[in-house]
Amino acid sequence: MPIDTLSAGKLSHGLRGELCVPGDKSISHRVAILAGLAKGKTSVTNFLCSEDCLHTVTAMRQLGAMVEPEPNPHSFSITGVDMHPEAPQGEIDCGNSGTGMRLLAGVLAALPFKSQLTGDESLCSRPMGRIIKPLELMGAQIAACGTKPGCAPLKIVGRKLHGISYSLPVASAQVKSALLLASMFAKEPLTVYQPALTRDHTERLFAHFGIPCTTCDNGLSVRTEGAAFPQARSIDIPGDFSSAAFWMVAACVVPGSDLILRRVGLNPTRTALLHVLRRMGANIEIIDKQTSYEPYGDIVVRSAVLHGTELEKEEIPNLIDEIPILAIAAVLAEGKTIIRHAAELRVKESDRIRTVVTNLRAIGGKVEEFDDGMIITGSAPLTGCELDSFGDHRIAMSFLISALCSEGTTTLRRCENINTSYPNFAEHLQQLTQ
Ligand code: S3P
Repeated sequence: MPIDTLSAGKLSHGLRGELCVPGDKSISHRVAILAGLAKGKTSVTNFLCSEDCLHTVTAMRQLGAMVEPEPNPHSFSITGVDMHPEAPQGEIDCGNSGTGMRLLAGVLAALPFKSQLTGDESLCSRPMGRIIKPLELMGAQIAACGTKPGCAPLKIVGRKLHGISYSLPVASAQVKSALLLASMFAKEPLTVYQPALTRDHTERLFAHFGIPCTTCDNGLSVRTEGAAFPQARSIDIPGDFSSAAFWMVAACVVPGSDLILRRVGLNPTRTALLHVLRRMGANIEIIDKQTSYEPYGDIVVRSAVLHGTELEKEEIPNLIDEIPILAIAAVLAEGKTIIRHAAELRVKESDRIRTVVTNLRAIGGKVEEFDDGMIITGSAPLTGCELDSFGDHRIAMSFLISALCSEGTTTLRRCENINTSYPNFAEHLQQLTQ
């Protein structure tokens, strides 16, 4: 059910009990694509049934994969096309999802037909040159036809691709993954060099689906052999660390909290927030850690007094999606939190430096804006007011968490975008705050 306005107020009690956050968004996109390309039938459990990932499911159906719901909630069976997708009818709509568009572009670039990728206004203003350039080096033909230069809609004429060696100019898992997916259709090997470690879900899922992929330089360089034949293999998706992050920060900053988040993905390329919060003084414990193709476990968070910190450059790619909610922790912490080297925030679902700064100032936070980040001085009393989400799910959810520690009521307009990543967020907010 679409929600467009959500409100919350100061909590007089802690967040207690336990919660299962929905399945991981990055992994869900990749599983839909890889299972859709594989030979045979994959059963997927705990798939994230959010708008973003369902757009990728629809795209794979357009390419001929059979995706059928299974009796358990959030479960599908996906019968793949054995690396022979069919030409889609009409354009492929990726909605709000940069991951969906960039990863699918890698696949479509290699297929023997024309296709077009499009999305909503926010997605059609995000940079696509970063995937077009290396895919063209592999032999692809892609035209960015948006009103903004270098932006979607993307018109793709599928071509035979060849392997390349490519150094990513920005640390981006989406670009790396677009190239790894494209390389499945190429004859020669591909090597991608990253300037910093980015999330390695594609590499792990390649191993799961039987696609040769090796890493060296501590994961900084990734090599595939080309000509891949993925094999269907059932898979369970852990909870999304980026969704758990909202409750981790909420339980840190709301006095009297004691919360358990169950079966959350703990991939080390995603969990920098955990280390940063601990450095700030957070009381966070991991229990029952297990490992299958991805590590996961339960996260126990109890409230604590937080202190400001400085983020290290190498930490940024591993907490890039958590910076809006980290900004809420920072504005409630004692002292300064320095977030720099994070210019990538300007090209997310909104310009997250501008939108975080605007909303922090509106609730009484002290913050200085830089081209590549912000410095937040914590401890000023916060006062709720009406805020815009700027069409960005993570801005909406972060400032609903700030409401729990602000005087009065905080109202977020245009919250329907929360459905892109966390459809039952409002339900969980109510459950934990009633
Ligand atoms: C993602 C990678 C990150 C992240 C996005 C999901 C992915 O983007 O911000 O939400 O699933 O690969 P970049 O690769 O652009 O940094």
